[in-house]
Amino acid sequence: MKDCSLPTRKECLAILAEYHVPPHIVSHSKAVAKLAVFLAQRLNENGEAVDVTLLEGACLLHDLLRVHDFKESDYNRFERNLPEEERAKWQQIRAKYKAIPHELAAHDILKDKYPVLALTIKRHRYMALLDEKDRPETWEEKLLYYADKRVMHDKIMPLKERLAEGHKRNVLLHGSAAQSKTNTAKVDPLIEEMEKEIFEKTGLDPLEVTAEFIDSY
Ligand SMILES: [Fe+2]
Repeated sequence: MKDCSLPTRKECLAILAEYHVPPHIVSHSKAVAKLAVFLAQRLNENGEAVDVTLLEGACLLHDLLRVHDFKESDYNRFERNLPEEERAKWQQIRAKYKAIPHELAAHDILKDKYPVLALTIKRHRYMALLDEKDRPETWEEKLLYYADKRVMHDKIMPLKERLAEGHKRNVLLHGSAAQSKTNTAKVDPLIEEMEKEIFEKTGLDPLEVTAEFIDSY
C-alpha cells in the first residue's frame, strides 16, 4: 500500500510547479536525487536499509524555497523574465518567511503533510553538521546532505571542487568572508568524513561516481 505520508515523484513535481520553482533549480534537484538514489541503492545492496521513496522526495523538494535566499532584486539572475504570477507567489512567500533560511521555510511548509520528509529537508542546511539538535543522522538525511554538496547546478562534481565553488558564491551573495572561513574550516572536514562513511559501504570511489557512471551502471 502507498505510504500517504510520502509524496510520489509525480506529486513532488506537482509541488515544485505549484511553488513556481525555477527550471534550473528543478534540474539541480533532479540531479541531486539521481546521485542520492544511486548511492542509496548501493547501500541497500550492502545490507543497509535506506528508504528510497523518502530520499527521492526529499531530494526533489529540498530546494523548494531556495529562491527566497536571494533578494528580490536578484530575481533577474534567473535569466528569464519572471511571469507576474510567479513574482506574486514568490513575494507572498518572501513576506511570510522573511529572513528564515530556505531549508527551514520548506520544513515549515511540508511538515504537516510529510513530517519525516520535511525533517530530512531541514537537515540539509550546510551548517546543520554543527547543530546538536539538527545534524543529519539517518541515511536519508546524510545522503540528501551529501548529494547536494556534490551537485553544482545540475552536474555531479568532486566534493572539494563543489564546496570551493559554493563558498565563493556564498561570500559574493551573503557577505562576510571571515565568518565563512571559520565555518567552512569546521564543516568541510565533517562532510569529507560523511563521504568516507557513505563510500566505505558502497565499495565505490567517490571520484568515479559521475552522471555517466550512474547511467552506465
Ligand atoms: Fe541543493
